[in-house]
Amino acid sequence: MEIINVLKISTLSHFMSDDELALLVDSYEMISYSSGSVIFSEGDISEKMFILVSGMVEITQHMGVGERELKILNIGECFGEMGLITGETRSASALAKTDVQTLALSHEKFNNLLDNHPKFSKSFLKLLVERIKHSEQTSNNYILDAYHTVLLSLSNLAEARDNETGSHLFRVREYCKKLAQELSIQGYFQDTITPLFIENIYIVSPIHDIGKVAIADNILLKPGKLDEDEFSIMKKHAKYGGDILNKLMEEIDFPTFKMAYNVANHHHERFDGSGYPDGLKGNDIPLEARIMTVSDVFDALLTKRVYKPAFDQETVKKIVQEENGRLFDPIIAGILLDQFDEFIAIYEKYAD
Ligand code: C2E
Ligand code: SIN
Ligand code: SIN
Ligand code: FE
Ligand code: FE
Repeated sequence: MEIINVLKISTLSHFMSDDELALLVDSYEMISYSSGSVIFSEGDISEKMFILVSGMVEITQHMGVGERELKILNIGECFGEMGLITGETRSASALAKTDVQTLALSHEKFNNLLDNHPKFSKSFLKLLVERIKHSEQTSNNYILDAYHTVLLSLSNLAEARDNETGSHLFRVREYCKKLAQELSIQGYFQDTITPLFIENIYIVSPIHDIGKVAIADNILLKPGKLDEDEFSIMKKHAKYGGDILNKLMEEIDFPTFKMAYNVANHHHERFDGSGYPDGLKGNDIPLEARIMTVSDVFDALLTKRVYKPAFDQETVKKIVQEENGRLFDPIIAGILLDQFDEFIAIYEKYAD
């Protein structure tokens, strides 16, 4: 069987076009196992992930006394991917119940695809979301960790297109966390800012510009100022990001999913209601998005972009003051202004 035909039916890639699949084919190799053999055992180093091509594979796990069958895999399903994402040893065993053919992807090739193919990363996130939907509560944390790892990988992809380094993402999540902590300490938004909120905004904030993967290079990387038409296309990145995360969330109701959607979709709303995509105003803008805006713009101002130089600290402070209450929620920008030097210190700690 041709590798590409297996990829066409695999849960990981069936919705990709032939051209997109062609890019993946060389990363996989066909491996066969005879009936009764062990494909991998619990505790093994995780070296590969697999797609089942033919035959019957059973996944089992030790549960105190005896084995517990987790599941029998369907053709096209993948297995063994968890260990690759988390970097930990196998959490379950895979046994060939009949003669089995698999498509295998090495750890190295897997990382390579995650880092270089947005479609692969996206379908991988989708797969993890499916796992979360169908898993028991006890294994959720494990899968959520994997979800967060892939989310960061996908965020990096969008950012890399922008010719920015990953450090912008590391900085914005630090600013977001600090802003949320300080707001909480000072008694603001107490109904919303819980310890979980602070943990979650740290995790999801790097995803804010994921929609930039859908913006063409000639606009995204234009050295000068965008004209009106170009900027109206550029502005769509917020809504695109929201759409991507919406599709991933489907009916699941995890707090991080909703928050990831809110920061992607609403990080360019303006406090005075003149922002995009929805023109939300004031407290109608989700709090996580208002915090995101302050973090993102503060960092964008301090950094050199293809279309602008880096501004010095005084200029940045002046722009933040001017935009206070227009672009920014004044309570949140107030924290930034009060503790300006501490936020600059974060910038410097994670500078490129
Ligand atoms: P970005 O570079 O990450 O900038 C994020 C936000 O930071 C901008 O959102 C804006 O609110 C703020 N910002 C960035 N530079 C300046 C500045 O020089 N002065 C002021 N006052 N604010 C600034 P915005 O404007 O909605 O832009 C969204 C994205 O669109 C930007 O993300 C960037 O990727 C792109 N973009 C915006 N203007 C241009 C441009 O003139 N040329 C190019 N090539 N891209 C642009
Ligand atoms: C699989 O289908 O890959 C086995 C179950 C799991 O990933 O935990
Ligand atoms: C593993 O930890 O990789 C084995 C469980 C699986 O994902 O199938
Ligand atoms: Fe943006
Ligand atoms: Fe950003």
